[in-house]
Amino acid sequence: MRLRTLILPAIALLAACTPGHQARRDGRDWPGYGGIDENHYSPLTEINDGNVGKLGLAWSHDINDGGSALSAPIAVNGILYFASGYDHVRALDASNGRELWHVDLKATQKAGRKMRGAWGIRGLAYDDGQIFVGTIDGRLTAINARTGHVAWSVMTIGKDDERYISGAPWTFRGKVLIGHGGADFAPIRGYVTAYDQATGKQLWRFHTVPGDPTLGFENKAMAMAAKTWTGQWWKYGGGGTAWNAMAYDPKYNRIYIGVGNGSPWNRKIRSPGGGDNLFLCSIVALDADTGEYVWHYQTNPGETWDFNSAMDIELTQLTIDGKPRDVLMQAPKNGFFYVIDRATGKLISARNIVPVNWASGIDVKSGRPIENPAARYPGGKAAVVYPSPFGAHNIEAMSFNPQSGLVYIPAMDQGRVYIDPAEPLATWRHLDGQRISVGTGAPPPGVVPDRKATSFLIAWNPVTQREAWRIPMPGLRGGGGTATTAGNLLFQGNASGKFMAYAANSGKPLWSFDAQTAVMAQPIIYRARGKEYVTVIAGARFPSAIGLPREWNYRTQQWRVLTFALDGRAALPPVEPVDMPAIDDAALAIDPAKATLGAAVFGQRCSICHGANAVSGGAAPDLLASGVPMERESFESVLHDGMLVERGMPRFEELTGDELTGLQHYLRQRAREVLAAQAARQPGDQTDRGLNEGQ
Ligand code: HEC
Repeated sequence: MRLRTLILPAIALLAACTPGHQARRDGRDWPGYGGIDENHYSPLTEINDGNVGKLGLAWSHDINDGGSALSAPIAVNGILYFASGYDHVRALDASNGRELWHVDLKATQKAGRKMRGAWGIRGLAYDDGQIFVGTIDGRLTAINARTGHVAWSVMTIGKDDERYISGAPWTFRGKVLIGHGGADFAPIRGYVTAYDQATGKQLWRFHTVPGDPTLGFENKAMAMAAKTWTGQWWKYGGGGTAWNAMAYDPKYNRIYIGVGNGSPWNRKIRSPGGGDNLFLCSIVALDADTGEYVWHYQTNPGETWDFNSAMDIELTQLTIDGKPRDVLMQAPKNGFFYVIDRATGKLISARNIVPVNWASGIDVKSGRPIENPAARYPGGKAAVVYPSPFGAHNIEAMSFNPQSGLVYIPAMDQGRVYIDPAEPLATWRHLDGQRISVGTGAPPPGVVPDRKATSFLIAWNPVTQREAWRIPMPGLRGGGGTATTAGNLLFQGNASGKFMAYAANSGKPLWSFDAQTAVMAQPIIYRARGKEYVTVIAGARFPSAIGLPREWNYRTQQWRVLTFALDGRAALPPVEPVDMPAIDDAALAIDPAKATLGAAVFGQRCSICHGANAVSGGAAPDLLASGVPMERESFESVLHDGMLVERGMPRFEELTGDELTGLQHYLRQRAREVLAAQAARQPGDQTDRGLNEGQ
């Protein structure tokens, strides 16, 4: 008995990840971001709507790397792989949580200023005995899945390049493809690059927007795209980064790239004469072998709102008007749900899943939106636009269940005010990597969205383009990523700290688990040693308060890997909610001028992680409750010396003594205000920082 238990794991390990081991597509493995078929769907049925009540925690693994871990794990041959912070990758025995290896890719020290806007690693990919991961410093790394040894590591960006990687790589036919983010912070031109899985040698690169025409275009697609831009767009980079989703289509041997927003957001600045600005906000189909352009579908011609087609892309066959069609489905930020013929790239149908006001619909024949001209905030006129840059749907993965025929979308209903910036558009420039390159201005007084931001889980029928059911979610971004199974189950966590199972067909809640913190990452489902498991990473990474009765606290929440199985008997240690109230310092006489300077520094550099108006949502410590800013020496060693860089707190070496003093006055001023009015939370607060997930 004893021998058996010793030998079995060794055999499983050996079989696992020797080179040549391909991930299995029968549901045993979950080898990449979208699972086995890009749909976040598992064909497994051992756990199902009849017995999910017996689902219990099999084991948990605490994550203490600092920062966050809003990351999708993968599982191959009974081994679970996950990333946390900016550079940690671990392999655990999925049947018991035992750590097999840990790699620290040491990306934070090399990331410099990029850390100021970017989050950690969102996903990994497995193929042929290797794990692939991109890091904030722009590297793509291959790790031997069995030993944890780094096989190769290549730089995918240029020197002093503001691009960074937070999204997952995609693998197919001996290649690994990676994109990047950064266009919200710097003048960046997006591209994706394919590397040889075995050697790390670059095979092809496809730019997603055209560059300076005087330097010549890389290919015909770029020459075509350049005709849709005006002015000197290349000076602004153009944007169009592939920062989140792609999908591999084995049937057509194509890779679909989800392309992001323009840089800056405001089209009047980057392309003053108008134009569609290809391939912003598009799904671009490339030949997977050569990287050559095949077709594109643009969801937002002339993007000007930080809309994105970088949300996950799902592939299936649907029967439409009696005919089977190979389709691609996406719910981009702009609020519509698109069904596209993936043979041709032509639109089959599109319908809004939430109320939107930038377009009244999508014209199926031309594939173009029927726009509301006022939404483009013309002639200095402000416009309240729905959805906001949060999107109707963002990085929280949707999923498709072929049995129920439904797509499950973590959705949001919220608006934002757009107006041109105060400075003349012609003089608009990018400020030293500190400012999101939105190119829109502060909302005029009194111009606000007309309703409170809300969020929900929507089950959507892609054939009829109608909602089947919906479940309200807590706060303004309350629903986590989803995964669904052939056992008629839909798994999703939420901002209230519950990990839930619903009946996939009806939405009936069947089971829940108290995760002691928000569960926003996407779950995965797989088998290990013949048994079905469900794994999700728990943790709240909201920069700003999201309108919960009690927001999560960075210092008191525990990030964890949670793994569930039928009859799982493990339990989390009990937690008592610890109050960490704002701290006053009666000895400090607040100087309003200093506090004003501090507020400006905070808004530009800190609120993206520590929260709008210094009200934290759990992504970083609540600075009103921290003693560090009150003690000048510690404050300086954190900000100037970068004492906490490896834990996810960037260095701000350039801040002057006056600016630090300003921050100290501002934080105490805010602490007093919060203490005076304990209800100083402002859900729906409109600060660009922290809102955008354009990373
Ligand atoms: C990219 C996100 C990010 C940005 C931007 C950021 N911080 Fe942080 N900060 C963090 C994280 C994460 C931690 C916690 C690190 C740890 O686990 O110790 C932290 C910790 C701190 C601490 C220590 C608090 C404590 O009680 O331990 C201070 C002080 C601080 N930050 C101040 C600032 C200031 C001031 C700014 C703006 C100039 C700023 N931070 C910008 C992420 C950020």
